Amino acid sequence: MPKVTFHIGDQASEVEGEAGKTILQIALDNGVPLEHACGGNGFCTTCLCKVKSGGENLGDRNDKEENMGITEESERLGCQATVNGDVELEVVDF
Ligand code: FES
Repeated sequence: MPKVTFHIGDQASEVEGEAGKTILQIALDNGVPLEHACGGNGFCTTCLCKVKSGGENLGDRNDKEENMGITEESERLGCQATVNGDVELEVVDF
C-alpha cells in the first residue's frame, strides 16, 4: 500500500492508504485533519497540499484542479489527486 506522509506545521504523520484513493480520503481514513470545507468537491482549496516528494505517484491533474488555478507542479488538491505510490505532502494552512 502507498505510504503517505503528511506534514502539518512541525508535525508529521505517516500513514498507509489504498492505491487509487484520494489524498483526502486517505487522510480522513487515518484521522489526519485535512480541511475539506466544500466536502471534497473541488470548490474551495482548503485541502491544498504542497508536494514535497513523490509527485509522480499522484494521478493526473483534473479539470477541477485547473479550474481552481491549482496548476503548479508542486501543488495538488487533496480531494482530487489520487495516490498510486509513496508521496510526502505538506498541508497548507489557511
Ligand atoms: S475539499 Fe474543497 S477543494 Fe478539496
